[in-house]
Amino acid sequence: MVESYDVAILGSTGLVGQRYVEILSRHRWFNIVALSSSPGKHGLRYRDAVSWSIGGDIPEDIADMKVYSPKPEHFSGVDIVFSALPTEVAREIDRGFADYGFSVFSDSSPYRMDPDVPLMIPEVNPDHLNLVESQSRRFRGRLIKTPNCTSTVFTLSIKPIIDLVGEGIEMINLVTMQAISGAGYSGLSAMAIQDNIIPYIKNEEEKLAEEPRKILGRFERDHIEYRKLNIEAVTTRVPVSEGHTIVVEAIVRGDIDLDEIAGSLSKFKGVPQELKLPTAPRSPVRVYKKIDRPQPRLDRDLERGMSIAVGRLKLAGFGEYKVLKYIALGHNTIRGAAGNTVLTAELAIALGYMKR
Ligand SMILES: NC(=O)c1ccc[n+]([C@@H]2O[C@H](COP(=O)([O-])OP(=O)(O)OC[C@H]3O[C@@H](n4cnc5c(N)ncnc54)[C@H](OP(=O)(O)O)[C@@H]3O)[C@@H](O)[C@H]2O)c1
Repeated sequence: MVESYDVAILGSTGLVGQRYVEILSRHRWFNIVALSSSPGKHGLRYRDAVSWSIGGDIPEDIADMKVYSPKPEHFSGVDIVFSALPTEVAREIDRGFADYGFSVFSDSSPYRMDPDVPLMIPEVNPDHLNLVESQSRRFRGRLIKTPNCTSTVFTLSIKPIIDLVGEGIEMINLVTMQAISGAGYSGLSAMAIQDNIIPYIKNEEEKLAEEPRKILGRFERDHIEYRKLNIEAVTTRVPVSEGHTIVVEAIVRGDIDLDEIAGSLSKFKGVPQELKLPTAPRSPVRVYKKIDRPQPRLDRDLERGMSIAVGRLKLAGFGEYKVLKYIALGHNTIRGAAGNTVLTAELAIALGYMKR
């Protein structure tokens, strides 16, 4: 039996923040006790501060809570801070909360690649949480990051394949088709995306090339030894509301078998499944054999948005190399953000990393 933790959500009125409200308001380990928005909405009730846009009703017990600007002094008594702030302000605010002594679990990009900051996908790299032990040199609290949403979906899909083929992957090419919600509530105008595809997302291709190498790397006392992996990505924005789709092409040396790949993907499980953590999906990866799946509208909500879908597995060969192709799809604001981060906090509690 886990005792309950009082939590705050920074950026609670944004698209990721709303997912936190949805997930945490029905969570048996966590009580939402504080919410933040941008400073201009300070003092408003949540129902008046938010443009609720994720379907369903605002949870009743949250709707009348007041929102505050994200200053540590407004959040005393909180055990855990979930942070979903825009990049421009997250650097200072996440750091300020960690300096103040809070355990901060955050979705934004600043600090993700710092040597002492765990970049977590709980099924893939649970031992990376050990890095928080080295953070006492920097903060009174802790700072733990969730990867970029597309990095999370891709890395979850490639981990069971790496488990099977080891060092055999020579090169990975990715083409993404990312949902509008990935850009935040005010990120894209309807005129820009309606009837359109935008063939570039700023900074996204660099994140996809780097973050999976850290997540799939080896924990070494006070840092991560990055995995050698050549990743080249083209990222695009498409008129889909939620769910990022990735076409993956991996060039692999040696013999591989498509049935074995499909088996490794669908059998994949990690520590969250062993520990039966509340937000853990039963199967983090669902494999589709049907030729017309996965599709964002049909498959993004698998296991409450916490499972990714993989389909269109294909193999071609030339000489000693094989080309493995597949399509992966995952929910960007749930598995790619709030859901992954809540699962990380559950893991940190279950493995004894949380201090109050
Ligand atoms: N969307 C995704 O799929 C996704 C996935 C993974 C990671 N992320 C990352 O998660 C973070 C949040 O993304 P999002 O999509 O939820 O963004 P969003 O919809 O734009 O929400 C941003 C939130 O931050 C608040 N905020 C804005 N300016 C602020 C300021 N100056 N000071 C304090 N708070 C401020 C907003 O409050 P107001 O309502 O008052 O403006 C809102 O609550 C970003 O760093 C993003 O890169 C997003």
